[in-house]
Amino acid sequence: MVKTTIQDVSKHLNEEVTLGAWLHNKRSSGKIAFLQLRDGTGFIQGVIGKNDIGEDKFDQAKSLTQETSLYVTGTIVEDKRSPLGFEMQIKDFSIIQEAEDYPITPKEHGTEFLMDHRHLWLRSKKQHSVMKVRNEIIRATYEFFNENGYVKIDPPILTGSSAEGTTELFHTKYFDEDAYLSQSGQLYMEAAAMAFNKVFSFGPTFRAEKSKTRRHLIEFWMIEPEMAFMDHNDSLEVQEQYVSHVVQSVLQNCKVELETLERDLTSLQKIKAPFPRITYDDAIQLLHEKGFTDIEWGDDFGAPHETAIAESYEKPVFITHFPLDIKAFYMKPDPERPDLALCADLIAPEGYGEIVGGSQRIDDLELMKERYEEHNLTGDAYQWYLQLRQYGSVPHSGFGLGLERTVAWIAGVEHVRETIPFPRLLNRLYP
Ligand code: 4AD
Repeated sequence: MVKTTIQDVSKHLNEEVTLGAWLHNKRSSGKIAFLQLRDGTGFIQGVIGKNDIGEDKFDQAKSLTQETSLYVTGTIVEDKRSPLGFEMQIKDFSIIQEAEDYPITPKEHGTEFLMDHRHLWLRSKKQHSVMKVRNEIIRATYEFFNENGYVKIDPPILTGSSAEGTTELFHTKYFDEDAYLSQSGQLYMEAAAMAFNKVFSFGPTFRAEKSKTRRHLIEFWMIEPEMAFMDHNDSLEVQEQYVSHVVQSVLQNCKVELETLERDLTSLQKIKAPFPRITYDDAIQLLHEKGFTDIEWGDDFGAPHETAIAESYEKPVFITHFPLDIKAFYMKPDPERPDLALCADLIAPEGYGEIVGGSQRIDDLELMKERYEEHNLTGDAYQWYLQLRQYGSVPHSGFGLGLERTVAWIAGVEHVRETIPFPRLLNRLYP
């Protein structure tokens, strides 16, 4: 008996193999039954002929319940109509466990019901494809940064200081002290860049944001590279190379998944560096031309503004040089326009919004001390970060890419709640 998995059936063309699988769906017509099987690595159609398998077994196959676990033996044959390109002609099967009435049926279910059953919903074809795209983005991320000389550094998750402002912090006790769940590993990654030159992190981050939008999660995963001796423009080049690499890798390695998701491929194929750039000043003007009267210079962009700006471009667009006042304390002012920050947000096309935020960091000790005073960053928690500007400070830049928003865009999924296995949302901590 040759045991294999669905992702490997192409290696067994015209051979008899055995799969461990679950029954995803079934239908029958006359003397033939079609079993849609899944084994976690993929989906395949199994065909059972009454005359080949005998009447009793055929009847048993027809009465199998959804999600029943099975061992299925049969011959792998070519099938040009299926996305996989193969089907199985089933010779025999044995039941491992007969599933009880499965709550998620092929009919339509409401989102709340599906979210309550997320532990089962993950088995569906669409959710499976989204997670495979997520996995490919993670794989391509490691590939890109490893091939370009970056060292993976893991910042702490329990922190004593805030990186992105204090209003969205998750507070916890750390024995007798106060601690917070990390909003961003950036401050630690800056220390790491001074020790290893080019570094990146990949980990969970937490924001107690009271936003209930299709782009906000309470717990999300961020990829945060930080580079010594690189300025704002160098960082934009890294970002466009990295994002292009990720998109092209998904196109290359997730063909079946993108087809399942009915993703428009032509728009993804265009995602190649370089990406267009527009300054904040010009973006405000563009919005006024498009009839947005609700936004003025000095305001931050909301989702409708980002979408309107992105509509003018086929690729992700960098919005650069935001007003310093609306950005984080660590951003370096533009020497030519000190009211602006050397920073950029990268906005995905097709209305998926901001996927990357980044900047050049302040490297001057005195200026950083001024910012500390303005932002009231007193206490010991931030002193170590000041020291990075005391002992051989250098120009450096970095950015954070939000994994879930990137998955949403590349997979073409409307809401970020479907891009993470078990989403944490404003009113959802279960399952
Ligand atoms: O722009 P943000 O807040 O940047 C930082 O945290 C920087 N310290 C990163 C750095 O320079 N190392 O967040 C970066 C990205 C956003 O562009 C977005 O993609 C994602 O993180 N993000 C969220 N994703 C899902 N839910 C949320 N609540 C998010 N908040 C930010």
